[in-house]
Amino acid sequence: MKQKPANPFVTGGYLSPLYFCDRVDETDHLLKAIASKRNITLISLRRMGKTGLLKHVRHSLEKDNRSMAVVYVDLMPTMNGNAMLNAISSALLQVKQEERNFFEKMLTLLASLRPKLSYDSLTGQPSLELKVESPAEIQLGLGHLLTFISGIKKDLVFMFDEFQQISRYPDANMEQMLRSVIQTFPEIPFIFSGSTKHMLEPMFSAAGRPFYQSTELMYLDKIGEEEYRKFILEKFGSAHKKISDEVISRIFDWTRLHTFYVQYVCNLLFESSGPNAGPDLVNAVFERVLNSYDPLFASYRNLIPPHQFSLLKAIAIENSVDKPTAGAFIQKHLLGSASSVKTSLTALADKEMIVLSGDSWQVYDVFFSRWLQYHYGER
Ligand SMILES: Nc1ncnc2c1ncn2[C@@H]1O[C@H](COP(=O)(O)OP(=O)(O)OP(=O)(O)O)[C@@H](O)[C@H]1O
Ligand SMILES: [Mg+2]
Repeated sequence: MKQKPANPFVTGGYLSPLYFCDRVDETDHLLKAIASKRNITLISLRRMGKTGLLKHVRHSLEKDNRSMAVVYVDLMPTMNGNAMLNAISSALLQVKQEERNFFEKMLTLLASLRPKLSYDSLTGQPSLELKVESPAEIQLGLGHLLTFISGIKKDLVFMFDEFQQISRYPDANMEQMLRSVIQTFPEIPFIFSGSTKHMLEPMFSAAGRPFYQSTELMYLDKIGEEEYRKFILEKFGSAHKKISDEVISRIFDWTRLHTFYVQYVCNLLFESSGPNAGPDLVNAVFERVLNSYDPLFASYRNLIPPHQFSLLKAIAIENSVDKPTAGAFIQKHLLGSASSVKTSLTALADKEMIVLSGDSWQVYDVFFSRWLQYHYGER
């Protein structure tokens, strides 16, 4: 049993349902898709809560069904097909299983790929390293692994987090390879999760890209304001701390209700408040956030070309901008010509410094947006 944290607002990872706000419909939707063996592609803005949701679903599946195997693979650190196969085989080693000699059987199965089993010196977690020499060997290894696990586990789901990573591999045709392997296992549901831009762009830009067409798309939006409010009131309330509706509204406004930022601000506010989390305290927390990010955000100034930085400032000052090439906006912020704004806009969007929210542009990182506003806006 995990220890109760001192602060109920988690900012790094998933702890338990107690510290997880809402996502009731989304969880239900994923559970149903898994039960019906449908493949899902889960997308959202960064830091909206995809990984949290996957872990919540995993928790729920494992709680209700002890024989369930949830294979969660984080592809973020993988740089090529070989590393992907290592990540998948290592994730399989984490699966709870009653099968006798599970490890030995896996090693035998993969013998031709020269498996090396090791244990993390800190966590004691096992991991497998394989040596593949061709794409065909990756396909072979993956096929072996899926056959093996589906042979001993009836209730099984694979979750690939940061799936967009595979489009960066130098290996040719990874997507086609994965698709053909996955299609030979219709009894296994797969979830592919990644951030909006990197998952969506390839899908629309290259009609031949095969992957997602065979999956159902699920977009993860912000947590509902009402649900989040209830959650915050409950967490402060159980610690005998008072927080007003007005203060909560200010937090939602300042963080744009974007999950990570809400959690972070609430975490600091919870920590710094005594029996009352009043408006003065919340202002101090906002300031503390901006100060703590100061070195990082100040360094962006040297990394971003001047015109792009000016546009970024202008968007942050306005908070959101519908028509960045309109005359009034350009004149107000002295941005030169519409065509140069267009060029900078594209460059900033490519770098994921800005993002379209509905029909208007915003600075993607909410804290950076507030920092720019604080330093360059009218006060
Ligand atoms: N429903 C929730 N309730 C409370 N906290 C949450 C919830 N969902 C996510 N979080 C918290 O918000 C933060 C961001 O969530 P998470 O890492 O799941 O986002 P993500 O969409 O996977 O981001 P990225 O695209 O960067 O991988 C995490 O610190 C997580 O603990
Ligand atoms: Mg994530």
